[in-house]
Amino acid sequence: MNPLLAGRDLLDLETLGRPEMEALLDTAATFGEVLRRDVKKVPTLRGKSVVTLFFENSTRTRTSFEAAGKYMSADVINISGSASSASKGESLRDTFLTLQALTADLVVMRTPYSGACHQAADWVGVPVVNAGDGTHEHPTQGLLDALTIREAKGSIEGLNVAIVGDVAHSRVARSNVWGLTKLGANVRLVGPRTLLPADAERLPATCHTDLREGLDGVDVVMVLRLQLERMDRALFPTPREYCNLYGVGTKALAAAKADAIVLHPGPMNRGLEISGDVPDLPRSLMERQVTNGVAVRMATLYLLLGAEG
Ligand code: CP
Repeated sequence: MNPLLAGRDLLDLETLGRPEMEALLDTAATFGEVLRRDVKKVPTLRGKSVVTLFFENSTRTRTSFEAAGKYMSADVINISGSASSASKGESLRDTFLTLQALTADLVVMRTPYSGACHQAADWVGVPVVNAGDGTHEHPTQGLLDALTIREAKGSIEGLNVAIVGDVAHSRVARSNVWGLTKLGANVRLVGPRTLLPADAERLPATCHTDLREGLDGVDVVMVLRLQLERMDRALFPTPREYCNLYGVGTKALAAAKADAIVLHPGPMNRGLEISGDVPDLPRSLMERQVTNGVAVRMATLYLLLGAEG
């Protein structure tokens, strides 16, 4: 058992130490081997129950937490926020106390409210995992991105990484800024001024409003979706203009290193933030990111639940 993370929450990468992050990545790399087997099942978490509580839609994160738990023989119970008693007015605190009383050993939550996972973690004694809280953080996405970069490049130390697009609304960007810089990368945030974070000066990253300048010589290009659902006013003139100025296509990629890789956390809008052909290039590793997401979530459940075998 690795005691570094046993019994702890995974709420953000801003406060997570580098040793803990490396333990998660190294453990995820070993679980990657289980995912390549014909029979993807180990008894590691037999008898443990994992609850996923999602108040926002998800394809990748929710499914991969469920798969991760099931591949390790945990009992996984999925609750969608809209189908829970929260829709009848039950508070988040009472919801978490109820899940604890129902003998959940760990709760994974996605919420539109930044900071809600931290609050929930104060209310219950079982580990809480943040699966995305508002515009704040998405730590397991940051870890799966780091794992994908490490696999492709051998090491993260000294790499130049450009995160391009709607950074202001992106919890993925925040987790990556904290996570990748702790692992030794230099991070650039690239986008129109209206989509760069208002608190950019407290983040360990540089800001660029020119796409070509932002991508110049980078090793990794991470493209972000425009999160229209989180915009309460127009932050760019038209989708066509955004695409012309900030859409990542082969022409824009020519500014990056010849062996630069392309990542996108998904869901992608081809033809908007990324051209239709770029995701299908060999340098684009979106499917690898998804598979690594299962491995990272296996590692998260394994280490937080303090599994022995
Ligand atoms: N990357 C990500 O969080 O995707 P989902 O919203 O599909 O979970």
